[in-house]
Amino acid sequence: MKKSIISTFILLGSSLLADTTMCFKENHPSIATIESTPLNGGACAGKYSINDMKKKGWLVDDIKINGNSYIYILKTPDNAKAITPSGISQEQMEANIMAKLEAKKEAEETARVEKESEELRVEAQDLYVAQCQNCHGEKGESRKGNSRLKDLTIADMQEALREYKLGVGEKASSVYAPVHINFLNDKSIKGIKAYLDSIQ
Ligand code: HEC
Repeated sequence: MKKSIISTFILLGSSLLADTTMCFKENHPSIATIESTPLNGGACAGKYSINDMKKKGWLVDDIKINGNSYIYILKTPDNAKAITPSGISQEQMEANIMAKLEAKKEAEETARVEKESEELRVEAQDLYVAQCQNCHGEKGESRKGNSRLKDLTIADMQEALREYKLGVGEKASSVYAPVHINFLNDKSIKGIKAYLDSIQ
């Protein structure tokens, strides 16, 4: 009699501990901040972020990403080797979720870099035409010193600029230094490289 009461209690106890909730966020601009943003729905109740929920003992069971909308399925662990509803281990599920988040992060980063490069290219076009092409050629094809601008990498140009600015290295005594010191910085160099690449 005593024994069966205890086992009933244990069964009840463990099923009470297992709990599932669904939280979501619509139109969230960036994956970088989603984990610390309060989510709507379920036990998140517009107040708690994924980070808060994890602190409260919830585990992320699945995540669905649709454009800028995120849906999280969370559950409390009912035992150490929790098996998720879809039948795979918690560890595997977390790895899958991480992979999804990483893929989205990478896509965002690529889009950001492309956008930045495009903006710099547009800005640099006017600068190049007005301030550089007379000497370096319309497409960076005129040989100056030992090189053509179109063949240089961003790092080559940055190094040259550093030498002009600091008056060190090969470019220390260049009479053209003022031209380059006045007009070049890391951003305009990236833009000029993007511009030259776009017209080859
Ligand atoms: C008055 C002519 C003139 C103008 C204008 C000019 N440059 Fe130059 N540039 C040179 C000459 C000549 C050299 C090579 C010799 C030297 O370093 O003294 C050179 C070298 C460079 C180098 C280093 C090349 C290397 O081999 O390391 C870079 C980078 C460069 N220019 C970029 C630019 C950019 C970008 C502009 C426009 C903002 C510009 N220059 C405007 C004449 C000019």
